[in-house]
Amino acid sequence: MKKQFKFFTITLVSVLLLNGCYDDNEETLYRFTIANCDLTNVTYNQTIAPIIQESCISCHSGIAPSGNLSLQNHGEVAAAVLSKNLYVRIASTSNPMPPSGIMDECKIKKIKKWIDLGSPNN
Ligand code: HEC
Repeated sequence: MKKQFKFFTITLVSVLLLNGCYDDNEETLYRFTIANCDLTNVTYNQTIAPIIQESCISCHSGIAPSGNLSLQNHGEVAAAVLSKNLYVRIASTSNPMPPSGIMDECKIKKIKKWIDLGSPNN
């Protein structure tokens, strides 16, 4: 009787834990992000600058920026698109920027959209 109760408790706890994690799996979150990726009205100031600020500026600014590449304003980011393969590096899975790991797909798509529009200063 005691043994059965133990088994029942362990089973119940396991089921609760597994259910708790169900919606948190990476694939679900990932698909959620893509489905809600709004690519309308992508502009440098509203869309791109905040992404650069959040994910790049800690290294690519100041007097000795990483990779000798400063990304502090529109001119520098637009130049890096043309001469430093910026898109290739943010989309790379083997050698991504930021080096800590590839950004979420929606941010990459927004940067791609902005580049496809001609990297405007807007
Ligand atoms: C933790 C620091 C760090 C962060 C954050 C970071 N980078 Fe870098 N980045 C580097 C270093 C170091 C290099 C030089 C080595 C290399 O190319 O991997 C580099 C190189 C680059 C290069 C190539 C430069 C060249 O001359 O070929 C590009 C483009 C670039 N980064 C873009 C970005 C972008 C865009 C972001 C944000 C999405 C970013 N980086 C975030 C450290 C960083």
